[in-house]
Amino acid sequence: MKQFVLCSAPMAGVSDYPFRQMIRHFGNQPLFSEMIGAETLVHGHRKTLKMLTFDREYNIIVQLVGNNPKTMAEAAQIISDMGVVGIDINMGCPVKKLIHNHSGAMLMKDQDLALRIVESIKKTTKLPVSVKTRLGWTDKAEILTFAPRLVSAGIDQLEVHTRTKAAGYTGHADWMAVKDLNLPIPVLINGDIVSKKTVELAIKQSHTSGALVGRALLGRPWLLNEIETGKKPHVCVGELALEHLDLLLLYYGHAGLYVARKHLAWYARHKKGVAKWRQKMYLEEDREKLKNLVQDFWKGEE
Ligand SMILES: Cc1cc2nc3c(=O)[nH]c(=O)nc-3n(C[C@H](O)[C@H](O)[C@H](O)COP(=O)(O)O)c2cc1C
Repeated sequence: MKQFVLCSAPMAGVSDYPFRQMIRHFGNQPLFSEMIGAETLVHGHRKTLKMLTFDREYNIIVQLVGNNPKTMAEAAQIISDMGVVGIDINMGCPVKKLIHNHSGAMLMKDQDLALRIVESIKKTTKLPVSVKTRLGWTDKAEILTFAPRLVSAGIDQLEVHTRTKAAGYTGHADWMAVKDLNLPIPVLINGDIVSKKTVELAIKQSHTSGALVGRALLGRPWLLNEIETGKKPHVCVGELALEHLDLLLLYYGHAGLYVARKHLAWYARHKKGVAKWRQKMYLEEDREKLKNLVQDFWKGEE
């Protein structure tokens, strides 16, 4: 099979700087940021600016979310000077807060606004501009008319989570639903890709040139490398969990302890005794004691 592009998918509350640092140990693939609110970025909110931490990293695609073409362009301009490799626009997130704010997946319903956002961003940046969207609001065929319009507006790449907004995360991703797109730009397929086998099948069924991997990366920062090489690299998962915890504490301070809980649980999810350990781990408020808990749980791992 021809070489395909592989990237980590944007995941709010997950794909922060420490998470990307962990993935970066195993390869050089493009990595998406968490979605960044254009409005809060333009207003210089401290928390949003912190989300744009990129040093020691490269090949970062920043995903913007918003509903105002002018603000989105201003945000794109700020990001353009930060040494990232692309700007992505969120047109697929089904979260209620974004829908009420007329952004995310709502832009599939207001396609004229979606196109104006693309055109406005394209005017302000030389970086490649991509859109991440879903198949449609309720109808899987909507993408077949929406995507060519996005291309006419100037996008350089399209990523499709092959479910509708209405489907949320239920059922299976329908990779075949985009096979007739035939666009002059790269299309990356997304949804339910967990291994080399699934990525090859997804690309074959969808006639696309690459893929985004999301949830399968949780607790498995080596997975993009494993998919590319077809072989799991030798890893000590406990050591990775501990390093991830350290990076989170360094980045967020004490708050990193709370962010770390879900990650530590993901690393450990297939290990014997995890349910009991998780209960204790979730209650631990002391960082040294938390590190000891992780070390003890993984003791003896080769
Ligand atoms: C915790 C979480 C956060 C997500 N945040 C975003 C986001 O900020 N922007 C976005 O476009 N998609 C977001 N997604 C959707 C993923 O990028 C991806 O489209 C979806 O999980 C399907 O891919 P998968 O089956 O490989 O996980 C998120 C998904 C999860 C699980």
